[in-house]
Amino acid sequence: MNPESKIYVAGHRGLAGSAIVRALKRKGYNNLITRTHSELDLTDQLAVQAFFEAEQPTHVILAAAKVGGIHANDTYPAEFIRDNLAIQTNVIHSAWQSGVDKLVFLGSSCIYPKFAEQPMREDSLLTGPLEPTNEWYAIAKIAGIKMCQAYRKQYGFDAISLMPTNLYGPGDNFNLENSHVLPALLRKFHEAKLNHDPQVVMWGTGSPKREFLHVDDLGDAVVHLTEHYSDSDIVNVGVGTDVSIRELAELVKNVVGYEGDIVNDTSKPDGTPRKLMNVDRLSELGWSAGISLKQGVENTYEWFLQNKDSYRS
Ligand SMILES: NC(=O)c1ccc[n+]([C@@H]2O[C@H](COP(=O)([O-])OP(=O)(O)OC[C@H]3O[C@@H](n4cnc5c(N)ncnc54)[C@H](OP(=O)(O)O)[C@@H]3O)[C@@H](O)[C@H]2O)c1
Repeated sequence: MNPESKIYVAGHRGLAGSAIVRALKRKGYNNLITRTHSELDLTDQLAVQAFFEAEQPTHVILAAAKVGGIHANDTYPAEFIRDNLAIQTNVIHSAWQSGVDKLVFLGSSCIYPKFAEQPMREDSLLTGPLEPTNEWYAIAKIAGIKMCQAYRKQYGFDAISLMPTNLYGPGDNFNLENSHVLPALLRKFHEAKLNHDPQVVMWGTGSPKREFLHVDDLGDAVVHLTEHYSDSDIVNVGVGTDVSIRELAELVKNVVGYEGDIVNDTSKPDGTPRKLMNVDRLSELGWSAGISLKQGVENTYEWFLQNKDSYRS
């Protein structure tokens, strides 16, 4: 990749995509092409093909997907499997067909078996059953990884697959029904502070452990691996350390400055007991995360306050 490379970032207004665009610009890549969902529906095969033929990008970073938390995955399984299969099939195939030099596919840590040995290594893929609440999404993502590997094997297409852990940061979705845990907690504590509520109810027991990567770290890692990695093996992109949801809630509560109590609603599902990435391969490739969870939550809360009239909800 060089400063003249014509890079298509699919999903550039999303949490990951917008951070990838920021990281590319920081590193001097300014020949970027983007399309909003309404300008180009990536589930539309003919439209995607026409776009690639017209634009002829040299590099593609696929950060467009139908994404959501436990509730959204469980409620809209058909949309999660269909949209994600369609988006990635259309983009990967058209990218190869139009002669793209390199494609980066973003998967997710949820592709690993529910009871994978922790921290999860890349070779635990397909060694056991998935977490049932998000298997629709996970199966689509696994198909995307396999498609990248198949196109590399059969056609020599330079497609790489990166598996980010849970992301958070500026541009996140703060909808209380279908967002991820960190932005949902941030908004809940913020609103509870404003309303002087005596308590905040937290989904589940609080005991599951999760790993959180700030999106600007993800953007940095994606650019680094696009520049330096070309192989069929998937690469975990994480921090390598995790916290319990309870610890996370305490941290968010302190950053927001909420003074009430935290109460657990144990009727709500917990999901996978622990999800921590093994990041040995990533370290060997010369990258590690630079933003601590505390710094990241503070930065995200600042962004939330500055964008409180326009954030996604
Ligand atoms: N967020 C995480 O914690 C996380 C963790 C691991 C991996 N990832 C991966 O990172 C990637 C991006 O996730 P994200 O969190 O950035 O999601 P996001 O914020 O929801 O962004 C996804 C983007 O894709 C676009 N999009 C969705 N369907 C589309 C379609 N049919 N045609 C065109 N554009 C479409 C969305 O546009 P609209 O909003 O206009 O529909 C949005 O801009 C995904 O592959 C996901 O698996 C995310």
